[in-house]
Amino acid sequence: MDALTSRLWPITIAFCGAPLLWLLLDIGLSRLGSNPIQAMHIYLGDWSLRFLCITLAITPLQTMTQWRGMTDYRQLFGLTAFFYATLHLLGYLSADHAWVWPIIGLDLWQSSYLWFGLLAYLILLLLAVTSPKAAKKRLGKTWKKLHRYIYLAAAAAILHYFWQLKGNLAEPLFYLLVLGMLLGFRGLVWLKNRRFGLTAPSKPHAADPDRAD
Ligand code: HEM
Repeated sequence: MDALTSRLWPITIAFCGAPLLWLLLDIGLSRLGSNPIQAMHIYLGDWSLRFLCITLAITPLQTMTQWRGMTDYRQLFGLTAFFYATLHLLGYLSADHAWVWPIIGLDLWQSSYLWFGLLAYLILLLLAVTSPKAAKKRLGKTWKKLHRYIYLAAAAAILHYFWQLKGNLAEPLFYLLVLGMLLGFRGLVWLKNRRFGLTAPSKPHAADPDRAD
């Protein structure tokens, strides 16, 4: 970890934990409105999606700034997205359905938007379990391929968001635009590298083995 990365580390951890502290404050001060369970649920879903987008933005930022230290942040932001998604899921299972599995099963059967949420969650779970350095070492090249599924998780989460909304689609459309831009950027870098690879002998990427381009 370089000096700048370790200096920014505490601020980044505080940033990742701030939404949870804010939520606890809201609960403590009874500021969640007339339907606190729903408000909490929406809040946690929103923050999970935001951290997912932040995680996806790290590689493009790294490409633009050439700052290799960002890799550590990518893992932290990804795990934070998974953490908020877990709280969101636990809220659904406990507060919404009191762990009554037949009702949960029926709800899953009837509400297709939940399938996309579940798909996004299962992908994040897989990525979280394989995120430690030891798993990365053991999986080798498969690790990189596996972790590209984060784009599928983000797309499924956005679909999950779209599908359950009854009114204003502006916010999920905004996330869709962000995801499209991030994917577009990765596509352009991939094309550029491919063209470069056709005209010059291939040069391995510098220090970062995680690069997924
Ligand atoms: C990575 C996984 C997930 C992400 C990122 C995510 C994100 C979101 C977002 C952004 C919303 C809309 C919040 C808003 O209206 O502003 C939402 C709503 C919802 N999600 Fe998820 N979700 C995920 C997984 C799940 C799972 C696994 C379940 C349950 C099986 C679930 C159940 C729900 C429900 C019931 C709502 C509607 C909340 C309401 O309006 O009462 N989500 N989710």
